[in-house]
Amino acid sequence: MNILCIGDVVGRPGRDVLAKVLPAIKQEYAIDLTIVNGENASSGSGILPKHADEMFSLGVDVITLGDHVWDKKEIMPYLDQKAEIIRPANFPDGAPGRGSTIVETRQGIKVGVISLLGRSFMKYNVLCPFKALDQILLEMSLVTPVIIVDMHAETTSEKVAMGHYANGRVSGVFGTHTHIQTADEKVLSKGTAYITDLGMAGPYDSVIGQNKEKIIQRFLTSLPHKFEVAESNATLCGVVISVDEKTGRASRIVRLQQG
Ligand SMILES: [Fe+2]
Ligand SMILES: [Fe+2]
Repeated sequence: MNILCIGDVVGRPGRDVLAKVLPAIKQEYAIDLTIVNGENASSGSGILPKHADEMFSLGVDVITLGDHVWDKKEIMPYLDQKAEIIRPANFPDGAPGRGSTIVETRQGIKVGVISLLGRSFMKYNVLCPFKALDQILLEMSLVTPVIIVDMHAETTSEKVAMGHYANGRVSGVFGTHTHIQTADEKVLSKGTAYITDLGMAGPYDSVIGQNKEKIIQRFLTSLPHKFEVAESNATLCGVVISVDEKTGRASRIVRLQQG
């Protein structure tokens, strides 16, 4: 089976490029399941229920989130209601929503998806993502061998470490959050597909999706500047992971960039 994973959708340009290219990608790669990180889907920061609905209606099966999960408070009750959108699993107990989910493809294949948040250089004091993974796999691995992890983190080392830690226990680990695609996609020694960062679905003539002039001014002056989503050069980045649904082992990971 083929699983499409798309990086952080940024604002209206990100949602538009998703709508534009998703049908053709699904057809070309015979996609069975689509996972999209939606943490920046609404004006570049957080996600509103209407934009989650919009992404589901475009054919997205699972939305993962990240450190921007609470930027739009309206999403909190939605996370409790809808099983196909998940926030990082390693938030402390009591956070709205869930950190993992199991969905079924049209062919009846069960796929587990887990969202984790890194701790290095991140603003939240979350629980250990490595221990959180162990805990979730205790039950999830009994249900299905096909499991994909979104490791939303700042540093390459924390994401690479997660890939090796999960190697052989899940089908794929992809990184998100930096919005810049890395060129290190590979299938690890025990059959786990891995990439350090998917890159974003958003405007690439920008600084990670935001208006470049405003970000430059912030670096030059250290004064606060209101961020706004950039407009041009919208491109969708992600990977397609091919998985043996009987064993959960990945055989191939292919990087995508389409505008
Ligand atoms: Fe992001
Ligand atoms: Fe993030």
